[in-house]
Amino acid sequence: MADAMIWSIGGYAPPHIITNDMLSERMDTNDDWIQTRTGIRERRSAGDDETTASVSSKAAQAALDAADFKANNLDWVVVCTDTPEMWSPATACFVQESIGAQRASAIDLTGGCAGFLQTLQIMSPLAAAGKRLLVIGTELLTHALNWNDRSTAVLFGDGAGAFLLGPSDSGPKGIRVGPGLSQSDGSQSTILGKPYGGTRHPITAKVVEKEETHTIHMEGPKVFKHAVALMSDIGRRVLKEAALNLEQIDWVVPHQANQRIIDAVTRQIGISSSRVFSHVAHFANTGSASIGLAMSDMLEQKLVKPGQRLLSVAFGAGFSWASQLFFVDEVPPSQFIHSTLRA
Ligand code: UT7
Repeated sequence: MADAMIWSIGGYAPPHIITNDMLSERMDTNDDWIQTRTGIRERRSAGDDETTASVSSKAAQAALDAADFKANNLDWVVVCTDTPEMWSPATACFVQESIGAQRASAIDLTGGCAGFLQTLQIMSPLAAAGKRLLVIGTELLTHALNWNDRSTAVLFGDGAGAFLLGPSDSGPKGIRVGPGLSQSDGSQSTILGKPYGGTRHPITAKVVEKEETHTIHMEGPKVFKHAVALMSDIGRRVLKEAALNLEQIDWVVPHQANQRIIDAVTRQIGISSSRVFSHVAHFANTGSASIGLAMSDMLEQKLVKPGQRLLSVAFGAGFSWASQLFFVDEVPPSQFIHSTLRA
């Protein structure tokens, strides 16, 4: 039976950089606190002329161009985001129009920071069955931040990552999507999220007056504890299901939440930090975009080689958490648009 194959990867990080020092001019924080607690040095922020659809389209086009694949051959365009273009229609419809995927069906999925892996798990059987898909994880989280809340405002950034997927038994070789698992616990739904603007807490003049009510809310220490335990656990469960052990894994690709979480997961899983990818220092937490952006950067840095096995783990609002194995048959073409030279 065929698997889903990643034929190419595209990434887009907006050119505008917000450093920790820039944040400290805006709120009571400092570079030392942010780096010590999170490992974050800077994050990207979408410009006034950019939206979730335009940022998604840039990552999507990067993936299409890398593979020299024509958008009108796509069957599906899927955007995973918690910061959509509009309430309705789906952000994916704007992307479909912008990249020229006339024949495709377009839909959005929302799953917090684990959403990209969840979306991949939902859509992979379609790719395995012969459909051609773009799965794009995008977030403009700087648009949803309360700049008066220093405990959340310093953590997040903007960006998008896109996978072009098709069946493994026809078309090019690339990265095979292996076994994966995901799980949710809705009893923790009030700990992390953006509660206002939906039907439970509609936006009213009173809500708009109080900035903190329509931006991201998070109980950081609780999120930290659950994130570490649940990402480590689901990663181990996926390995067990696939009858693999850690020695057979070349890279762990964790959700880029922050370096302390990544380090704690590394210790709990019991793998050397040299085999755990992190670029959180430069891009911060980009939510649904995080795994796609990370893999796009890994390909640009030529860290991924044929024959390698990658284990990804993610955790976020919901709570939802997920883990996914990837098998590198061949290194697929990729394009990571990030506008600056690496430090
Ligand atoms: O995808 C998952 C998304 N979520 C996350 O990645 C966040 C998970 N949580 C965390 O990583 C950590 O909880 C944080 C980094 C958010 C916070 O670290 P912490 O060690 O849990 O700090 P804390 O919330 O317990 O706060 C410690 C102190 C407090 O001051 P007092 O009460 O001890 O005087 C905070 O007010 O640090 C203060 N603080 C800050 N100080 C300077 C909180 N944010 C800042 C800041 N700058 N930006």
